[in-house]
Amino acid sequence: LPKEEGWSKPIYKYKRYWYPGNYLPSVISFQQQFQAEDTDIFVVTIPKSGTVWLKALTYAIVNRARYTPSSNSHPLLTTNAHSLVPFMEAQLYLHNKNPDLSKLESPRLFGTHIPYSSLPESIKDSKCRIVYLCRNPKDVIVSFWYFLQKFGAKVEFDQAFELFCKGALPFGPYWEHVLEFWKLSLELPQKVLFLKYEDMKEDSNLHLKKMAEFLGYPFSSQEVDEGVVDDILKLCSFQNMSTLEVNKSGRADFDGKFANDIFFRKGKVGDWRDHLTQEMVEKLEEITKEKLDGSGLML
Ligand code: A3P
Repeated sequence: LPKEEGWSKPIYKYKRYWYPGNYLPSVISFQQQFQAEDTDIFVVTIPKSGTVWLKALTYAIVNRARYTPSSNSHPLLTTNAHSLVPFMEAQLYLHNKNPDLSKLESPRLFGTHIPYSSLPESIKDSKCRIVYLCRNPKDVIVSFWYFLQKFGAKVEFDQAFELFCKGALPFGPYWEHVLEFWKLSLELPQKVLFLKYEDMKEDSNLHLKKMAEFLGYPFSSQEVDEGVVDDILKLCSFQNMSTLEVNKSGRADFDGKFANDIFFRKGKVGDWRDHLTQEMVEKLEEITKEKLDGSGLML
């Protein structure tokens, strides 16, 4: 397979997308073994687009009858969202070619960074739903670079930026990934809900309602009046999640090696302004314009 060694660990190109070497076998097992159920819900992103936030929101929406969002015993207060909504490639299939998923409660909630074209056929054939979150590429590369620093990776920002621009991001190319889901959300709006991190930040209330509606768990007017929407947003806010003890000192079950605090940094829109040179901004905007041309998507 084509190999890229610019990151701290090599990534490999498989069916047009780049994957960390240790995830490739799990990507393939997942593709081959997984049987989707109509009630399954998938949270899909390119890394650093706000996955942990989307997972928490999805979990809180779907489970609100069991766990009151304002309750001080809500699972999200003591468990990282990655443990409640596990990644296919980085958790469930990582050490097990065919994990037993039969004991998971319904609806099953899963996360993945795998592009639609490489998802198992049963996901495409079943009525399961996909919530896709995208984030502007400038903030994604900045967030990704900081993420690498937490692992002590010795990659200069300029180098990371160039790799990103040439598409060699783990699970990238960024634009192709985003476009696959964007197009699908237009063709099959009942299958894919396409959200933007920036929109979610700007009008969280509206987008939470959209998510709940799409997932088949709409808020009743009584719930809205009782403040349930706001309670979920508060529970899943950056301010709340990043200061919970479990997310400050706990470890997610990714091999036990990831401290939960690596998923929380600033949680802001536009941090790229402090990191990208004018030249970088122009380059990235040019590529983005070219790639998204004619798609109707603006990033
Ligand atoms: P920054 O590095 O820009 O702060 P992922 O979950 O896909 O790894 O994305 C991580 C990014 O989402 C980080 O961005 C992180 O701070 C931000 N994030 C984490 N929790 C969030 C929340 N509850 N609300 C908004 N952003 C959040």
